Amino acid sequence: MAKPPTLLALNWKMNKTPTEATAWAKELTAQLQPGSAQLAIMAPAIDLPALATSLQGSGVAVGGQDVSAHASGAYTGEISAAMLLDTGASHVVIGHSERREYHAESSQLVAAKTRAAIEAGLIPIVCVGEGLEVRERGEHVTYTLDQLRDSLAGVRLDRPGALVVAYEPVWAIGTGKTATAADAEELCSAIRTALVGLYGPTGQDVQVLYGGSVKPGNIREICDQPNVNGALVGGAALEVQSVLDMASAL
Ligand code: G3P
Repeated sequence: MAKPPTLLALNWKMNKTPTEATAWAKELTAQLQPGSAQLAIMAPAIDLPALATSLQGSGVAVGGQDVSAHASGAYTGEISAAMLLDTGASHVVIGHSERREYHAESSQLVAAKTRAAIEAGLIPIVCVGEGLEVRERGEHVTYTLDQLRDSLAGVRLDRPGALVVAYEPVWAIGTGKTATAADAEELCSAIRTALVGLYGPTGQDVQVLYGGSVKPGNIREICDQPNVNGALVGGAALEVQSVLDMASAL
């Protein structure tokens, strides 16, 4: 079975104004060489129109970092999947551990958001992963797979490429502590098996990413694992040079 294409997804988190994002995109596209990996920038929603314009024709995709579970209506502060799509976005991160922790997002809400994104035609990048205590108890596989199944409750996949899953162990996010390539493979492989259980052969085509302190020096080894189909990168996604280095390492 062929591996799905490698995706390098950059999660800018709450960084870069539209002006900064535009300058960054120009600097990137001036130097980016055609490579084997797909590139997607997951930016603050307010940056998306400017980014999509600056990246037109470059092959670099853009996406949001969250989406409403509702299609439209009286939900002050929310942004719908249709609104993201209208900016030119193709992807959206859902259920990042920072949203689960700081905004009390449950896996049930993550599933509702994922259904809304897919129904609208956006590709969700659904994040799952255990905290340090769970890992130390040795329960990381069970915990992460339970979280995955709850986060995909009621989610139907009727076409390949409609879903991306990111395994991000919380203890490795922004800490400099990277899971080993073997740790990443252990969970990405377990996630793949669970996806095939849920979706049959379509589960084989889901890109399963690893996220947590990925940088130019370790991206290759991690993404070379049989069940790792790319990376979701935070800190190392902010500098153009480091993104160019990661893209050329893949
Ligand atoms: O979504 C990416 C992420 O949470 C990892 O962040 O800074 O450890 O690469 P970082």
